[in-house]
Amino acid sequence: MTFDKRQVVYQIYPKSYKDTTGNGIGDLQGIISKLPYLAELGIDVIWLNPFYPSPQRDNGYDVSDYTAINPLFGTMADFEELAQTAKKHGIELMLDMVLNHCSTEHEWFQKALAGDPFYQDFFILRDAPTDWVSKFGGNAWAPFGDTGKYYLHLFDITQADLNWRNPHVREEMFKVVNFWRDKGVKGFRFDVINLIGKDEVLKDNPNFDGKPEYTDRPINHDYLKMLNAASFGQDEKGMIVGEMSFTDIPNCVQYSNPDSHELDMVFNFHHLKVDYENGQKWTLKPFDFEELKTLFHTWGEGMSAGNGWSALFWNNHDQPRALNRFVDVKNFRTEGATMLAASIHLSRGTPYIYMGEEIGMIDPDYDTMADYVDVESINAYQELLEAGKTSEEALAIIKAKSRDNSRTPMQWDASENAGFSTATPWLKAGKTYAAINVATEKTGPIFTFYQELIRLRKELPIIAEGDYKAAYQDSDKVYAFERQLDGQRLLVLNNFFAEEVEMALAEEFTKGQILISNYDVTALADTLILKPYQTLAIVLN
Ligand code: GLC
Repeated sequence: MTFDKRQVVYQIYPKSYKDTTGNGIGDLQGIISKLPYLAELGIDVIWLNPFYPSPQRDNGYDVSDYTAINPLFGTMADFEELAQTAKKHGIELMLDMVLNHCSTEHEWFQKALAGDPFYQDFFILRDAPTDWVSKFGGNAWAPFGDTGKYYLHLFDITQADLNWRNPHVREEMFKVVNFWRDKGVKGFRFDVINLIGKDEVLKDNPNFDGKPEYTDRPINHDYLKMLNAASFGQDEKGMIVGEMSFTDIPNCVQYSNPDSHELDMVFNFHHLKVDYENGQKWTLKPFDFEELKTLFHTWGEGMSAGNGWSALFWNNHDQPRALNRFVDVKNFRTEGATMLAASIHLSRGTPYIYMGEEIGMIDPDYDTMADYVDVESINAYQELLEAGKTSEEALAIIKAKSRDNSRTPMQWDASENAGFSTATPWLKAGKTYAAINVATEKTGPIFTFYQELIRLRKELPIIAEGDYKAAYQDSDKVYAFERQLDGQRLLVLNNFFAEEVEMALAEEFTKGQILISNYDVTALADTLILKPYQTLAIVLN
């Protein structure tokens, strides 16, 4: 199976894209209505967050039926229409597969609870819990009915981890993927897929909340090879990405090197923890540029050397908007948005755009905790109060870190609810929608810059295929890298600060061609002044 390295992915959180039924929740018809917009942007693949039946405790990542459509979002006919209409626009779909856990409302869990031993073996049941901490807070085990046993839930208590050691579970999971393949789907995003392979004996581990005991276990690779062979590996073309939690380069090389026959590419999150104090999410700290630069270089070179492949992204449905984290967004929203875009679209890997990023959407800036709905934020707020923070301090942290920041309604125009819905949206629209919306931004500098980056990737093989090499490693302001392919070179300079930076340009590059910049640049000299958040890419033939 091969995937096309020239392609760019656009992520849609269906619940927040476009509501056509007037219930305050986005739907599949809403996405269909926006396909011309996406075709204009130029993207090739749409990753859709889960739209399957689900009690929505974790917004659809708690699946209760893997092969149906949640009526909230529409019908199977709507889905088929979406897939066909997208194809007409040259766009393929990528579906989100949550195979590590299912909702406790799934019939498998219900049958298990009712005492059926066949289904009890679908879950991870033990007589005594380990000390592992759930990613959404608290211990990761909960009592399994009145059996005296405990079931594992690495996420919410209603998301029970599935027992992949059981061949029947694997068979069911393969069937799920094949169900959607039979509908013509060629792209898949596998949720926390490096957690599926649990050891037979589960051990306590006070380090990192127990993560090393269940993450990237060797058997995980075996399961991915099986999944590949039983499903998408049989397709000629497609795009398969795995979300890797708490991972490392050697494992990611193995997951994504084509010779392993596991996945096409991997998401890792290390670069989005550079504003965590002591690795803890619910803290406030300005981002650490040194750490960010070093991570990008180590991963860029490591993945390049091992022939692995990364999914490159700044935003997704689990992250606050990157503009609020990495940019002086009050003064340099446009420059910052375009620089961040170039820093990944010109790098080695497949770029992902999260809805709204292409118009420079920012965090909603809610005034009260009552506006937040995410289970993780609500739990974290309580824990912050219990740890002695005042309600103002706790709210300030939630405001900066909540996953709801990226889940707010897509901002289409300046009308009420940002043109997303005629009803009150399930999650309030961000404060800035009257100014930042598709109607005003579509001909503006951010959207058109994204169009240009997407176009360049299709035109220049060096962008899609070139190697990655760190450049200007000593710079404390500029993240720079070089791409190389068949003797051609591409230098990309990204100023991550709101001030000018002087740089010495290597003699040979002064004779290069300016490929793209977010400022007007007409000439190159051996001393360059990069403006605030300037990005500049130079090609040398
Ligand atoms: C992934 C998803 C996140 C979800 C979690 C559990 O990290 O991106 O939204 O809560 O997995 O499924």
